[in-house]
Amino acid sequence: MEIWKIRGGNPLRGSVRVQGAKNSVLPIMAASVLVPCRTELTNCPDVRDVRASMDILRCLGCAVEQDGDAIYIDSRPLCRSAVPDALMHRMRSSFTFLGAILGRCGEASLTRPGGCELGERPIDLHLEALGALGARFEETGERILCCADAGLQGTCIRLRYPSVGATENAMIAACAAKGETVIENAATEPEIEDLQNYLRQLGAEICGAGTDTIQIRGISPVERVAYRIMPDRIAGATMLCAAACTGGEIELRGAVREHLGPVTQALCAMGCRMREESSAIFISAKRALRASPVIETGPNPAFPTDAQPILMAASLRAAGTSAFVENVFSDRFRHVEQFRRLGAEICIEGKTALVTGVRELYGAPVLATDLRAGAALLLAGLSARGTTTVLDEGHIARGYDALDIQLRSLGAELEILREMR
Ligand code: EPZ
Repeated sequence: MEIWKIRGGNPLRGSVRVQGAKNSVLPIMAASVLVPCRTELTNCPDVRDVRASMDILRCLGCAVEQDGDAIYIDSRPLCRSAVPDALMHRMRSSFTFLGAILGRCGEASLTRPGGCELGERPIDLHLEALGALGARFEETGERILCCADAGLQGTCIRLRYPSVGATENAMIAACAAKGETVIENAATEPEIEDLQNYLRQLGAEICGAGTDTIQIRGISPVERVAYRIMPDRIAGATMLCAAACTGGEIELRGAVREHLGPVTQALCAMGCRMREESSAIFISAKRALRASPVIETGPNPAFPTDAQPILMAASLRAAGTSAFVENVFSDRFRHVEQFRRLGAEICIEGKTALVTGVRELYGAPVLATDLRAGAALLLAGLSARGTTTVLDEGHIARGYDALDIQLRSLGAELEILREMR
């Protein structure tokens, strides 16, 4: 258990560099087992989910080393195709190993994945996509045995919904299939393009990522790959919203402007001043904020669901009423009850949360219910009067690398107390 103790009230000022993208490095680490090869990844965030991926790789027989922001994976010694329950339950992204192990071994044995509780998170689209490539599944209790006795066969896969994880699983497995695969209604999130770029380095013939149609024509494996992970757009959004919450002014270095478009547009509409240069985004939130326009989450290019709790934190003291419509996950307003403990005025009507800005928030004990909710509560605490304690069962460390150090470097007063349980 980690307890974040925050004394709110300081406007954040200074310059920070955005970490590498968690949601990009995780599928890429899974994809590294697709063919026997050595992968060197740089700009990897040191977060709990990445360490969980390293444990899965080791369990499969791969050699893995971490040195600063670099991770070295040697997938040549891979000798197992089953991932134990305990490792599967540590995060949702463990399920992306299915397509990769299946592609490499022709069989895989996994259980349903863990991850943040955001409502129902089925895996039907993953199974349908891999099934279309020729995989067969047998479920015994929690365990899913998957095999492709006759090998995987390229085909046209039309996803019923542009799921990020199902698109990644299908892309990875399709590299090992005979013939051409076309994925229609694919997710277009920037992390999909990063995965494509890595798979190309690995020798795959693949194009179209970033559009809703991805074509894959197999792989001519290489022996060694070096790849740099893209910057994390949600960690970047978190820093911008932290400045907005506290009436601060910061420079965010290393972010990709286009990836942050929906968030920077919303912050501008709320009255923040933004300046974008090729390698940095500047935000100034010295004026009082006004309510955001209606924020509707959805698959890319709509507003990202992961940034919904974080932007909501910035709207808690904004003048007027802000509306947030959550279209991606069925239970992603769990932070609302926690915000209320700080004095926020929010009502929920179905998929919509209506936030009426209050003059002040007041520090209180709150609970981090998931990764982004935890980050959002830190931001709210930074903008509240007095002391806020955020109780966190390790959610925040799953996705943020040294967030306490980054926030302190901007003038935040906070510390993490660790409690053994
Ligand atoms: C990825 O999750 C991200 N995780 C999530 O980030 C992010 O919130 C999400 O994409 C949406 O952008 C990683 O990349 C590791 P989905 P994923 O499959 O792949 C439904 C964070 O905070 N669905 O696009 O699990 C599902 O229930 C995390 O960093 C099915 O119905 O997301 C949801 O409603 C949280 N059947 C919607 O699709 C399926 O088989 C979107 O899920 C798969 C998904």
